[in-house]
Amino acid sequence: MFYRTDGPHGLPHNPFKCCVVPRPIGWISTISADGDVNLAPYSFFNGVAGEPPMVMFASNGKQPHGPKHSITNVEATGEFVCNMATWVLRQPMNESSGPHAAGVNEFEAAELETESSELVKPPRVKAAPIHMECLHFKTVELPCDTPEGRNAICIGRVIGIHIHDDYLKDGMVDIATIKPIARLGYHDYTAVETVFEMVRPGA
Ligand SMILES: Cc1cc2nc3c(=O)[nH]c(=O)nc-3n(C[C@H](O)[C@H](O)[C@H](O)COP(=O)(O)O)c2cc1C
Repeated sequence: MFYRTDGPHGLPHNPFKCCVVPRPIGWISTISADGDVNLAPYSFFNGVAGEPPMVMFASNGKQPHGPKHSITNVEATGEFVCNMATWVLRQPMNESSGPHAAGVNEFEAAELETESSELVKPPRVKAAPIHMECLHFKTVELPCDTPEGRNAICIGRVIGIHIHDDYLKDGMVDIATIKPIARLGYHDYTAVETVFEMVRPGA
């Protein structure tokens, strides 16, 4: 099949998100200008540069109560933390995605312990194996079809990385043991359980 994205696709559900898979989940912790702690998952998330390390998450549409809190908080305070979502943490990750009103601490709603960060104010998800402490670099606005919504890419510079020692094997991050989860289309996810190596020609 082929469809133009400015017309109907003719399928029961929009297939776009199945066409960009798997998408890693940035589980973003922030603090609002008023000091409220916030946590939410974003799967339009990725690393976008290595030296220096940079990440992005994209905030889409709107909440029933208005703009999404994560990007609002990052723009107000300049800081965020990306916590790695794993198979073990899948339920609290999902719980933290609810359309909670401002002032609701999703760490408490999802019964997650916090751990303070080294270089930024937003706390970390203690049980996550990897955390990246970030400073807001820039926001890039995107077109948005949702009335009164906002699509925007929030780009951050990673200034500190925590890797839990339990997941370092011979100095390498043991991803198969961590089992990160990632988003597919619809309500589907995958967990990284198999890893294979391929060395680039000339490397
Ligand atoms: C696995 C997962 C991935 C998500 N990815 C995104 C995303 O990339 N962009 C987005 O705007 N919302 C995404 N959401 C929805 C947000 O998590 C949800 O709107 C949340 O309430 C936003 O919280 P906030 O307003 O505190 O930032 C995702 C939800 C889940 C469960």
